Amino acid sequence: MKSFDIRTKIYFGENALDRLTDLPYKKAFIITDPFVAKSGMLQMVTLRLNDGYTEFEIFSDIVPDPPIEKITVGVKAMLAYDPDVVITIGGGSAIDSAKAIREFAVRATQKDVALIAIPTTSGTGSEVTSFAVVTDPSKDVKYPLVSESMLPTEAILDADLVKSVPANVTADTGMDVLTHAIEAYVSINNNEFSAALAEKAIEICGTFLLRSYLDNNDTHARRKMHVASCLAGLAFNSASLGLNHGVAHALGGKFHIPHGRANAMLLPHIIEYNSGINKHSKSQKEYPKCVEKYVNVAKLLGVNNFNEITTIRALVGWIQFMMKEMNIPISISQLGGIDREEYFDAIDSMAEKAMADACTATNPRVPTKQDVVTILEHLYE
Ligand SMILES: [Fe+2]
Repeated sequence: MKSFDIRTKIYFGENALDRLTDLPYKKAFIITDPFVAKSGMLQMVTLRLNDGYTEFEIFSDIVPDPPIEKITVGVKAMLAYDPDVVITIGGGSAIDSAKAIREFAVRATQKDVALIAIPTTSGTGSEVTSFAVVTDPSKDVKYPLVSESMLPTEAILDADLVKSVPANVTADTGMDVLTHAIEAYVSINNNEFSAALAEKAIEICGTFLLRSYLDNNDTHARRKMHVASCLAGLAFNSASLGLNHGVAHALGGKFHIPHGRANAMLLPHIIEYNSGINKHSKSQKEYPKCVEKYVNVAKLLGVNNFNEITTIRALVGWIQFMMKEMNIPISISQLGGIDREEYFDAIDSMAEKAMADACTATNPRVPTKQDVVTILEHLYE
């Protein structure tokens, strides 16, 4: 038996932030990062709260790749303030931190506290998922926490908040959206509902990702990518992800590569691995099942070729073209800043962590540790 639901109420479109002037809550604990706190974006939230006479306290001590210690500090601050709603505004790190902070605080007090997530990047889809990724810096590892009780009560998608996102962040987070949608689409847990959401997200990425990268003022493209991020989040919340994210978590935990960038760099390798297109001895009848799905992905992106394998090769080429256009490095050596010897020394432990990552379990092809080692070796050059 399977089930599907969307528990998070989603506000989107023009002036979506105005939802905040009409909240049924009186005491808000706002969780954000220092950048958002100093920008005008936080004010866009607090002014609306004041209008609706909601008192608030701000916790802005959030850092990228949120470490467990910061979550503990946040839990203490939240328990001291005792809010009836947590409002989080920021990128994936802020929203994931807020989900974890609220979860642990609620478990301690058993008090029902709502969660409103307001993303300021179009990437993680965290505003509609029951996942939160936290980091244990002592072990160089990222842990995906998963609990339905972490699902935000409401998500507010207001494209005004993504207007000033720098181009490189648009590129990385946009490729994260595409990776979410593709991994959900080929996941062994995929279903008709998740597939419909993933297909729409892929289609939007194909048309609007490059547009939003090239022109900050292309409001239409940015609004579309903001919705695509949420659609892909809904898709993977149901179908889960795959090896791409499993390896990206291990790589990001060790070398602190931005999450979306790590995913983008891995995506061509993972598609080649999952579809087995480098195994020339296979006859067409022996193609893995996911080949058909990758062909659908290619077609949604406007890529087509003579047969399944050449179409998937063209899909990999399209992804590499996008990375080149958006200045995303295609290899670790091109990324720079990582010592070759240190990287190769870390491959074994990264492969082990990727194998143990919860995302890897739903990959369409069951990898061996050696498979992951080979992928990480190929990623260097
Ligand atoms: Fe991701």
